Amino acid sequence: MAKNFKPSFYVTTPIYYVNDVPHIGHAYTTVIADTLARFNRLSGREVFFLTGTDEHGQKVEKAAKAKGLKPIELADQVVVRFKDLWKALNISFDFFIRTTQPFHEEVVQKIFQKLKDKGDIYKGTYKGWYCDSTEHFLSDDVPLQEGGYKICPDCNVKAYLVTEECYFFKLSAYGDRLLDFYAQNPEFVRPPSRMNEVASFVRQGLKDLSITRTTVKWGIPVPGDLEHTVYVWFDALHNYLTGIGYDWKLELYQKFWPATIHLIGKDILRFHAVFWPAFLMAADFPLPQTVYSHGWWLKDETKMSKSKGNVLDPHLILNTLGADPLRYFLLREIPIGLDGNFSHEGFLHRVNSDLANDLGNLVQRTLTMIHNSFQGKIEETEDEEEGDKELRLAFNKLKEDVSVLYEQYALNRALEEIWVYINSVNKYLADNEPWKLAQKETKRKRLARILYQAASAIRGVSYLTFPVMPETSEKIWEYLGEETSIKDVLFSGFKFENYRLGQIIQKPEPLFPRILLKDFLGEEVSQSMSERKEEMEEISFDEFKRMDLRVGEIVQAERVPGTDKLLKLEVDIGEEKRTMVAGVADVYSPEELTGKKLVVIVNLKPAVIRGIESQGMLLAAETEGKAIIPFFESDAPTGAKVK
Ligand code: MSP
Repeated sequence: MAKNFKPSFYVTTPIYYVNDVPHIGHAYTTVIADTLARFNRLSGREVFFLTGTDEHGQKVEKAAKAKGLKPIELADQVVVRFKDLWKALNISFDFFIRTTQPFHEEVVQKIFQKLKDKGDIYKGTYKGWYCDSTEHFLSDDVPLQEGGYKICPDCNVKAYLVTEECYFFKLSAYGDRLLDFYAQNPEFVRPPSRMNEVASFVRQGLKDLSITRTTVKWGIPVPGDLEHTVYVWFDALHNYLTGIGYDWKLELYQKFWPATIHLIGKDILRFHAVFWPAFLMAADFPLPQTVYSHGWWLKDETKMSKSKGNVLDPHLILNTLGADPLRYFLLREIPIGLDGNFSHEGFLHRVNSDLANDLGNLVQRTLTMIHNSFQGKIEETEDEEEGDKELRLAFNKLKEDVSVLYEQYALNRALEEIWVYINSVNKYLADNEPWKLAQKETKRKRLARILYQAASAIRGVSYLTFPVMPETSEKIWEYLGEETSIKDVLFSGFKFENYRLGQIIQKPEPLFPRILLKDFLGEEVSQSMSERKEEMEEISFDEFKRMDLRVGEIVQAERVPGTDKLLKLEVDIGEEKRTMVAGVADVYSPEELTGKKLVVIVNLKPAVIRGIESQGMLLAAETEGKAIIPFFESDAPTGAKVK
């Protein structure tokens, strides 16, 4: 074993503010962390997964006041909401830290004192624009508005000017050390685009940071100067140390610190990638390996609001479908780092197509056939034919690829690869037509081989998806008659070949029932959502004329690598050819589109999709998230205007 190999994995989520109830955004970070924790446990590493709540500060103080509660009472209530959500989402955290816990408060005070003794914290006067909502002073480059005030660029709320005595942390002294550290550890901030952003911020020069307040009472008192409380971020960031036992359970701390990965949203990157390592350098702690910044979940593009009744409540989904469809959707839909749009339709489409159709039907069909033809027990099979062997070898390669992708935190790519394989298993069944063989007594052993092969593939797939959809995998293992829990098998030792003949296979229940919008939003809301399509604002003919619609001819079509929905099209629009990216690959193959004529809009602002500039868009109807393209007869002249 390499000398620096560390068989431990310490993953954290941000600690969530308790002024608000948990939502999909919070669920996202926590599901990523849980998946990484589960994968690393399968890999044989010792894992520690920390989450918790950030309970001090002005925001919480104010929210509690508005509810007529003491801050700690509000915190106690909201903590229950978070813990309930984590339970419903099957989150396997090892410890839930609350910043109001005494061991945490004591450590924050000790470190504060240590840095003060060292001269890295000093007393001064601060004058600046403060945003209550994000609890930070705006940077100097935020412009003054006409009325003589500033607006917080993060949340668009009016900031106000504060002059107060406070303690400063000498952040300015750490710029060079931070830049050196980034240069030596390019993986400290991921994805790489975020590293550029952080380094250029530091390169512009760092100012000392105000880290105490006198106007906020709900905070950790500054040791020896009780008028002051510690700024909520100085307090909160240290949870990553206190949550792992510093300095109240030192064996734990020594085993796991420094953290392997801090998962955070892009809005709190600077705190984690600049302030946090500087605090740690000052107090002589080793620095974390990676701060991974993920994107945001946006609401329905069609505007989501409470009054319309289409706000996404995670519990609504979880109560109807359980945790796995939501976990799958959040991880599959976007790479960690990019923003995503959460729409009910998009969610249901994914769940119905990937989970109910591709995976669910595969399991259902295969196991039901084993039941019907072999009373649930395959004892003897014919030897492998070429196609059977390919399915097996493809799995063993898939396992290696997926392992690398999980290691790189490329969870959506891992799922994409697994689904390509699931579909190849479906194709294997379609090609071999076991339902026909079941009619012929002479083909019994061949039938047994095909079903056994498919069952082994299902077992393999359920092992690989376990970090993402643990409940589903456990259900599949139960159906497959696996006696021991497969999750005790290490990733390196898991093999397709290890599914033994002769296991008793249960008759499966559908894993993912197909669901309709009205099933879980209610008839009324889903109706009002479809009516909204008709309620669109009127436009004038002149407005309509601003759209340049043409007859386009697809001259070339190919799949966009690494996606299963996107096609890259070369479209002839008369005087020139345009590149367009269209999300239709789940319905149309490149071959069937080539030579087709259709309506395209050619004066739409270009958009970059998966690194390809799309210079126009084709028009199509949409039903249940699937595109239906209206084609012209071939004699429609290419490039003709459509009006
Ligand atoms: N308390 C601080 C974190 C301190 S960590 C030492 C905080 N809390 S928060 O509750 O406001 O946000 C917690 C996390 O949730 C952040 O990483 C934020 O990016 C994430 N999200 C909140 N809304 C989100 C979305 N809509 N989408 C994705 N994540 C977002 O900041």
